[in-house]
Amino acid sequence: MVEQVSMTILVIDDDVHIRTAIGKFLIARGHTVIEAANGEKGVAVVESQAVDIVITDVKMPGVDGFEVLRRVRSVAPETEVIVITGVKEAENAFRALREGAFDFFNKPFKVEEIDAAIQRTVRYQVLRKEKDRVQARLDRFEAQERKKSGLNAIIGESEAVVKMKAEILQVAATDHTTVLIVGETGTGKELVARAVHFESDRAGGPFVPVNCSAIPGNLFESAFFGHKKGAFTGAMADQKGHFELADGGTLFLDEIGDMPLEMQVRLLRTLEDRCIRPVGSSREIEVDVRVVAATNRVLAAAVREGSFREDLYYRLNVFAIQVPPLRERVGDVLFLSRYFLAGYARDLQKPLVGFSKEAEDLLQRQMFPGNVRMLKSAVERAAILCGDGEIDADDLEFDLFEGGSTADSGVDSMVQALSEDQMNLSVVEKAMLREALRRTERNQVHAAALLGISRMVLRNRMKRYGL
Ligand SMILES: Nc1ncnc2c1ncn2[C@@H]1O[C@H](COP(=O)(O)OP(=O)(O)OP(=O)(O)O)[C@@H](O)[C@H]1O
Ligand SMILES: [Mg+2]
Repeated sequence: MVEQVSMTILVIDDDVHIRTAIGKFLIARGHTVIEAANGEKGVAVVESQAVDIVITDVKMPGVDGFEVLRRVRSVAPETEVIVITGVKEAENAFRALREGAFDFFNKPFKVEEIDAAIQRTVRYQVLRKEKDRVQARLDRFEAQERKKSGLNAIIGESEAVVKMKAEILQVAATDHTTVLIVGETGTGKELVARAVHFESDRAGGPFVPVNCSAIPGNLFESAFFGHKKGAFTGAMADQKGHFELADGGTLFLDEIGDMPLEMQVRLLRTLEDRCIRPVGSSREIEVDVRVVAATNRVLAAAVREGSFREDLYYRLNVFAIQVPPLRERVGDVLFLSRYFLAGYARDLQKPLVGFSKEAEDLLQRQMFPGNVRMLKSAVERAAILCGDGEIDADDLEFDLFEGGSTADSGVDSMVQALSEDQMNLSVVEKAMLREALRRTERNQVHAAALLGISRMVLRNRMKRYGL
């Protein structure tokens, strides 16, 4: 198997008989052979083309085998060198090995000796090339991951985003300062959490995202701290918890506002002493973890209500990053739209070049209670619907309920601010219609799109309210 791999081998010897004898032998083994009559010519070959293995005599006039070895190591460190030494020159063989030769064989040579030396070298070269290939793939993958996960992944040039990116870098530079990320639904809190991790010295360690609202209350402790086999019914084996899995990296606690109170106490303690104890274990384990938490709830309000512990709130709030809602960075809307469109065009293999003037106007007037997530899915739908070329206003359709249900979004707070006599659907509806018509300069197609209703429905309501 290994014997059948074909290598390019350079044979350097001033003795033409030896040179051609070795050459013939290697060609019979399926290798490509280049011959050089002295050290100088040999080095010139290595400098001008890729050679896998060099076989060189030690004693040669002019550039000798040691010099060849030295030059090859410096110009082609991946090329391995085998030296040929006289039987009585053991000292030379050792010196060559010390100076970086891969192997040697004696002269006058026995075929088995050359064969063994070549095979060892070939096998090594095959393994090394395989390792390089794997490593290169890994490097490419990691570079891609980092690009997907660092600051680069956060698109936006608005002042609000630029400021936020600066804050991310600031806190990433600290070793384990806890970070609290707050912002409405769909604003990109998870991207921010990833950026904090991937821009920090912990980037090589694990990033462990945990959705606190998805863990049943009775499983919280074991999920976070792990458990020993037999600690409770169903604990069939030892299991590591999120903290231990994130050791050396970052633990991302998403939806921290949904963490049960008793778990909040334990989390706080862990943040203070950086130790955990798995359920059913008597031993404490030290963990080196940065905690990044995110929420779309107003935690201060949860503290007032008593559903979030004040001490934990202050502990998490040491460094807070506010992710701005899309309406506070309208300038980024087109930027984001084009970025998402380019991605979908690539995925769908469609030549989608951009948005029509009408589509751009519509995007800039649109309300985004679901923030970037809502914009992203509107662009995705449009990319799927649209044939080729430009996305038109008709291709854009917005799902106003997207992610907006659990959100403490702008709409929620607006509604909460309504007085009792304003809490009337037709009053609100009429006001919405009037505003939509005003913003679109009474363009009914655009107004309907803005409101997320059909043109028919819009016409009916306009008649009803006398607009
Ligand atoms: N600035 C941005 N640049 C590029 N993509 C973004 C940006 N902000 C958000 N996104 C994308 O929008 C989507 C929603 O973002 P993300 O999941 O981070 O929101 P979130 O703040 O965690 O929302 P929720 O509170 O609902 O969990 C993701 O697909 C994310 O990649
Ligand atoms: Mg999220």
